Amino acid sequence: MFARAQSAATASVMELKALVLAGGKGTRLRPITHTSAKQLIPIANKPILFYGLEAIARAGIKQVGVIVGDTRAEIESAVGDGSRFGFKATYIPQEAPLGLAHAVKISKKFVGAHPFLMFLGDNLLKESLTPLVKDFSAKKPNAQILVARVPNPRQFGVVEMDGDRVVRLVEKPEEPKSDLALVGVYMFDSSIFEAIASIRPSARGELEITDAIQRLVDKKRRVTVKHIDGWWKDTGKLEDLLEVNRLILDTLSASVDPTASVDEKSKIEGRVVVQEGAHVVHSTIRGPAIIGKNAKIVRSFVGPYTSIYFNTSVEDSEVEHSILLEEARLHNIRRIQDSLIGQRVEVVQSHSMPAAYRIMVGDSSRVEVP
Ligand code: G1P
Repeated sequence: MFARAQSAATASVMELKALVLAGGKGTRLRPITHTSAKQLIPIANKPILFYGLEAIARAGIKQVGVIVGDTRAEIESAVGDGSRFGFKATYIPQEAPLGLAHAVKISKKFVGAHPFLMFLGDNLLKESLTPLVKDFSAKKPNAQILVARVPNPRQFGVVEMDGDRVVRLVEKPEEPKSDLALVGVYMFDSSIFEAIASIRPSARGELEITDAIQRLVDKKRRVTVKHIDGWWKDTGKLEDLLEVNRLILDTLSASVDPTASVDEKSKIEGRVVVQEGAHVVHSTIRGPAIIGKNAKIVRSFVGPYTSIYFNTSVEDSEVEHSILLEEARLHNIRRIQDSLIGQRVEVVQSHSMPAAYRIMVGDSSRVEVP
């Protein structure tokens, strides 16, 4: 009896939990993020955050703490209790964006003595988390970090290595000593809590997880490093969103939902996904592209690397290499390219005189005209 109780206790101590960070303001994606969470922007018609949550579920993690800020209600209604992913979601409110290490600090009760994976909700990566989790669980270092080579290390946490050994980690250095950036996927055991307790806020006023990991290195704790092979993106800017949209659309296989309709005057070329109830009328869709639920594409051209979300309408228009969000409408517009068009936004031609651009756009919007 005692032996059984003890082994159950050991098993529960060792079970990996996850922390997913879904707070943050998304300032570089305004105006979209004035009204919605950046982690919920759909890429190939699926919220960014869901890619990470699905990878966490596939890695066998059953308990996920979701750190939320101002956009809590929206995140909570999208993720729910986690059962659709196969885990239990617990919401942990962060009263202000005081840093990644602060997010870990306030999750201490949720994490308990378990080792855990921390995933930044705006990161997308090709790599499966499963082998990383297995390796961490088998070797039990105090921390396992993930790094990738980047052309712009000043925008990331940067890791200096000596062979396999981590020498130094610096958050957004002026003069990076390497091009190895910290990917937003970390694994820790509970020694990270002591490390966090001994760091101070950085110049940007945040408790940096990078500094806490540096503290582990200073204390001669074991910090292991994995280099990622596939692509990785921190989706903070429009260009990044368009890029991950390309990368993900490239992996889709063509399909037309049986409830969708494509008339005989339309052409579907290459890898195109047409979702439930969408109508394609007298139009050409050239993949890779995805046409969302109940979208209407009429007398239009949808070019490669375009994601058209639910309940949108594109009439007498051309659009390519762009993302349209829910209920966006294009009418008589040639052509839209390299764009992100927000929910319920209308871009339409008008015949009113005088001929002019008539614009009502939200704060921090950007409009480029030929
Ligand atoms: C954060 C981390 C940084 C890491 C990056 C990965 O940066 O502070 O070390 O390289 O995520 O996405 P932030 O998104 O806060 O600029």
